Amino acid sequence: MLIVDPAAPDAAVVSHAAAVLRRGGLVAFATETVYGLGADATSEAAVRRIFAAKGRPADNPLIVHVADLAMAQAFAGSWPETAQRLAEAGWPGPLTLVVPKSPKIPDLVTAGLDTVGLRVPATAVARALIREAGVPLAAPSANRSEHVSPTVAQHVYDDLNGQIDCILDSGPTEVGIESTVIDCCGEIPRVLRPGPLDIEQLGQWLGGAVAGERSAETTEGAARSPGQSARHYAPKTPALRVETAEELTALDPGATDIVISIAQRVPASCTARCIMLLDPPSTARELYATLRYCDAIGMQRIIVMMPPQTPAWNAVRDRLRRATTTA
Ligand code: TXA
Ligand code: MG
Repeated sequence: MLIVDPAAPDAAVVSHAAAVLRRGGLVAFATETVYGLGADATSEAAVRRIFAAKGRPADNPLIVHVADLAMAQAFAGSWPETAQRLAEAGWPGPLTLVVPKSPKIPDLVTAGLDTVGLRVPATAVARALIREAGVPLAAPSANRSEHVSPTVAQHVYDDLNGQIDCILDSGPTEVGIESTVIDCCGEIPRVLRPGPLDIEQLGQWLGGAVAGERSAETTEGAARSPGQSARHYAPKTPALRVETAEELTALDPGATDIVISIAQRVPASCTARCIMLLDPPSTARELYATLRYCDAIGMQRIIVMMPPQTPAWNAVRDRLRRATTTA
């Protein structure tokens, strides 16, 4: 694990990590959303190591990280007008654009799809690393498959120590949940995974319609969004979700439970330990570390009091639905 300054990454450290990547190695690094596990996206052998290290099923496509718009276009088969608008407005940032793929990207990266998810991450570390490596980086979240995404370097170490070559520790990530994924191949762009940038913002940038993700409030994944298994982003401790204080009380939470209350008042009768999260940005930032903390203290149940069903909470609700089962 190498410590790097998030504002001004040490050139020697970046150059070491880039050399590891060029040799086909795996390097974990911070993006603004979560830590990614990077490999040279043009090398099938390197990408194979990502799937092995994570225990990730081969039908789950990887996001390809590039340094800028020109590099994105170089790895796309074609470049839709909608992708151009979104890239100009949203990059660098927590936005993944699904576009037709170039043959330069091995099929293994995209799980056999004819499209590729491309993104320009916003951290100085990520972009310096891509530039120095000189190749696009396939980088899923740097956790064991199905586990909670990592928002600090220690999370990566806890999940992947021994499986990867290097972790660049540049401190906690700013946003905390994964990028918004939007499919730009159709007439009307469609959100495949809700994220930090909401549909309203994307619609403004496009100056037109955006389709929402299919089956937003169910656990069924959208047809064009493989790898979005219902149980994803999950802690190890059994986790339940409730919408109201009445439902919470019915579960009779006690000393072996921990309640995560999100923008809700916990009833005074509740004697269980409780963590309160208040607004969408801070909840997104703290969510995965909170779930990992709940695992670490060895409770029997995690009970999540869900935030309201409003657009501002959409992405957080999506992750919480996948982390929990209904009470
Ligand atoms: O914020 C993020 O997006 C983080 C950081 C590291 O960039 N990455 C991330 O990657 O969350 P990962 O592998 O955990 O999630 C990738 C998801 C896939 O499961 C799938 O839902 C979607 O992105 N995806 C990727 N390529 C796609 C494609 N060609 N078509 C449809 N969906 C795709
Ligand atoms: Mg992931």
